[in-house]
Formats: sequence, structure tokens, C-alpha cells
Amino acid sequence: MADNPVAAVFDQVSATYDRVGVDFIQPIADGLLAHLAPTRGERALDVGCGRGAVLFPLARAVTPGGGQAVGVDVSPRMVEAITAEAATLRLSVEVRLGDAVLPDDSGTFDLVASSLVLFFLGDPVAALRSWRDHLVPGGRVGVSTFGAYNDEWRAVDAVLAPYRPPEVRDPRAVESPYASDAGVEALLRAAAFDDVETHTTTLAVRFVDEDQWYEWSWSVGQRGMWERVPAEERPQVRRQAYEKLQQCRDADGRIGFDQGIRYTLGRRRA
Ligand SMILES: C[S@@+](CC[C@H](N)C(=O)[O-])C[C@H]1O[C@@H](n2cnc3c(N)ncnc32)[C@H](O)[C@@H]1O
Repeated sequence: MADNPVAAVFDQVSATYDRVGVDFIQPIADGLLAHLAPTRGERALDVGCGRGAVLFPLARAVTPGGGQAVGVDVSPRMVEAITAEAATLRLSVEVRLGDAVLPDDSGTFDLVASSLVLFFLGDPVAALRSWRDHLVPGGRVGVSTFGAYNDEWRAVDAVLAPYRPPEVRDPRAVESPYASDAGVEALLRAAAFDDVETHTTTLAVRFVDEDQWYEWSWSVGQRGMWERVPAEERPQVRRQAYEKLQQCRDADGRIGFDQGIRYTLGRRRA
């Protein structure tokens, strides 16, 4: 298991990440790709590539014309899992184990994508600067982060919040750059990106039932919290969450939440 606490959480979820039948990670990645519009022959980098929600479509888009799709991730088990899956899918990708602050010899890219990663980084501006350093003039960057979501769902999250590993930041923290479009845009501008702009959308995330939510919550970053709930307290914490979930039914009676998604884009002009 990795020493870095964020990497340790993603090591734990690597086997099931985004693979429990809930449409969450992939639609967010698809939206980012739509904004970045990768084309044949481009060199593309995906930072915090996880299980490939961005990297695999990137590879399908750029490699036919001799392009390059490179992923980097700090979690050794994520890197193992995505490498194995890429081989199974016969996708031409290069996956590197490493930090989001890129080393000098990382290569040159036409675009850098990073979906649902920036808020985990200790120094996001240092990471963004390093991405810019590896872009060609005219190259583009796109990151996705979370926007607003239902208060009722905050109450579900609040049940687990006391168990958050102290070193793992809350992606939806209200007092952070990630709480507003302007906050994330300021990070890109601080890293000297030009033409910074934000696009937002809302994703309706729905669960078959409470048990699917429970399974899903173990397959994403929330698992870091479940792991810290003492085993004897888990049934009680789970019951509390299920009670809160009853307030989160849509007009069709389905449990879920409406998650704002923010896509922040920038360009290296020269
Ligand atoms: C929420 S997941 C998103 C994964 C992928 N981008 C996706 O959309 O499915 C966050 C990913 O960022 C990686 N990560 C977190 N901190 C990182 C860092 N400092 N450097 C590189 N990767 C990091 C994690 O290991 C994890 O795979």
C-alpha cells in the first residue's frame, strides 16, 4: 500500500473504481473530452488517470493518426489496473507511476486533461504550471471539478464526514478554490494559462436502491472514510446514511443527487 494517504485510498478502490453500475465518473470524463476535443495524431496527457475514464477515449481519438496517449497516476494499484485493462482492450497507451507535478523529462503535449484530481493536490498551481511547461504553444488544458449539489445529499455525506482521513481533502469543501468557478479559474491563471473559461453542467446520479449506494460509496474516494469507521460502528453509520437517503428521492422515487460539474479550460498561448 502506498505511503501517500491519497494514493493509499485510490489503491484500495482500484479494483472496483467506477465499476458498480452507477453512471458517475464516465459521464464527467466524457464531458471533459467533449470540451477538449482531441483529434487524430495529437499528443495527450491525462493526469490522475485512474482506471482510464479519460485516457481510454483519448487513446481512441489520438492514436489512429500516430498520436500519443499518456497517463500518470500516483496510485501504484491504479497504474497496475489501468495498464492491465489497456492491454486487454488492445489500447495503445503509456501509463506512468508518478506525481501530478511533472518531472522535466515528461515530454511535450498538445493537450492535458485531468478529471476530478486537482482538489486532491497539495499544490495545485505547481502541478498546473508543470502541465503548462509540457504543452506546446497553443496547447490546451481542461480540468473537471465538482460544482454545487443538493443539500439533502450533503446530509448523507455528513454522516461519513467525521471519518475523513485528515490528509485527504474534501473535493466539495465550501471554503476552498473548488467552491466556485472563479476559484478554479484563478488557479489556472496563477499557473499562467490564458483564455481561461468555465463550462458547467448537472449530472443526475441515481441509484437502484440504498444497497447500490453503499456498494458505490466503497468504490470511490468515500471508501477512505468507511475504512476508518470502526467495524463495530459500521452497521449504525450505514443505518444513519440510509435514513438520510430517504430524503434524496426524485419525482420517480429514485435515490440520488444532482451534481454540478465544472469544466475549466485554458490555453498556453506562447
Ligand atoms: C477521483 S480519481 C479520478 C480518476 C480519473 N481521472 C477519472 O476521471 O476516473 C483521482 C485520481 O487522481 C489520482 N491522484 C491523486 N493525487 C495525485 C497526485 N498527486 N498525482 C497523480 N495522481 C494523483 C488518484 O490516484 C486517482 O486515481
